[in-house]
Amino acid sequence: MTTSQDLRTATGALRRAAVRATFAPSVHNTQPWRILLGHDELGLLTDRTRQLQALDPTGRQLVISCGCALFNARVSLAAADLTAVVTRFPDISRSDLLATIAVQQSPGPQGDPIAALDSVVELRHTNRRRFADDAVPPEMLEVLEQAALAEDSILVQIRDPAQRLAVARLSQQADALQNADAGYRAELRAWTTTDLARLDGVPATAVPQVTGESHDEVPIRDFDTSGQGLLPSDTGSSSQQCLLLLGTRGDNPAAWLRAGEALQRILLEITRHGFTASPLTQVIEAAVTREALQTELGLTMMPHVLLRVGRAAATPATHRRRLVDVLIERP
Ligand SMILES: Cc1cc2nc3c(=O)[nH]c(=O)nc-3n(C[C@H](O)[C@H](O)[C@H](O)COP(=O)(O)O)c2cc1C
Repeated sequence: MTTSQDLRTATGALRRAAVRATFAPSVHNTQPWRILLGHDELGLLTDRTRQLQALDPTGRQLVISCGCALFNARVSLAAADLTAVVTRFPDISRSDLLATIAVQQSPGPQGDPIAALDSVVELRHTNRRRFADDAVPPEMLEVLEQAALAEDSILVQIRDPAQRLAVARLSQQADALQNADAGYRAELRAWTTTDLARLDGVPATAVPQVTGESHDEVPIRDFDTSGQGLLPSDTGSSSQQCLLLLGTRGDNPAAWLRAGEALQRILLEITRHGFTASPLTQVIEAAVTREALQTELGLTMMPHVLLRVGRAAATPATHRRRLVDVLIERP
């Protein structure tokens, strides 16, 4: 029997989970979600007004970003010792409703292992600095691979020297193709900012200054549209750094949502281990380089996110929208 005390506890935990969801990473920091907060359930909705039409016409990265938010909500509930009952795509007539999350008391004393990730949700940031030369420990890579599998996704490390070079070459090709596209550049300008008060978009504080002299082997997206990027221009992003590729077997919204959950689980594990990461998705966004990547690496999965992983000094947090603009509270 559910008592009114249980219901109050569940409602409080759902509210916290909704807030924690909003700390998730998202493509260009678009934060393309809305969250329906009921007494006994959360609903995760897409906000299509925030979709990147030039970069992400199918909405794949929008759904991946929402998957990251969903994972944060699950972590928050696990930390409250509640079991999240997630129903993905609960209503086929509503493609904007990605998931509902209800809660149950945890059945046993062991709890869910993802609860341990709650303490690092606010510490995870995309880090576009130069990474130290420390090797990424194999035990950590094993944890990351298992994390991806637990979320119906696949994570592979790019180890083979020829494959590393292929990733670098194709990433450069994608970067050149995108930067030559006026629509892509206009969208990027609209989603980058030097305004410290702006609550979305990628701030100059979080991006390297682009001087034209860095010659990264695996380019970091050039967000420095106003020439005021505050991080050092030397990012040392080479084909020798730890490069991981996340993908799924399927290529549809259900798979994209799971890829987002996997991405956030991996990013939080990386943070928990004292490492940092930055997603590099240009090579997957451009169809020609994505297809070449699949062929040259012999991939049987649909790739979604290339990650560089290492140790680096901290970078500032990016902003998030006001809760009043994200949460829809059921009276
Ligand atoms: C699906 C997805 C794709 C992304 N692609 C890139 C990318 O290509 N280059 C990059 O520097 N950051 C990329 N990011 C990181 C976002 O820019 C970042 O999450 C956002 O600006 C918020 O900052 P935070 O991660 O520090 O909270 C991506 C993030 C997501 C979720």
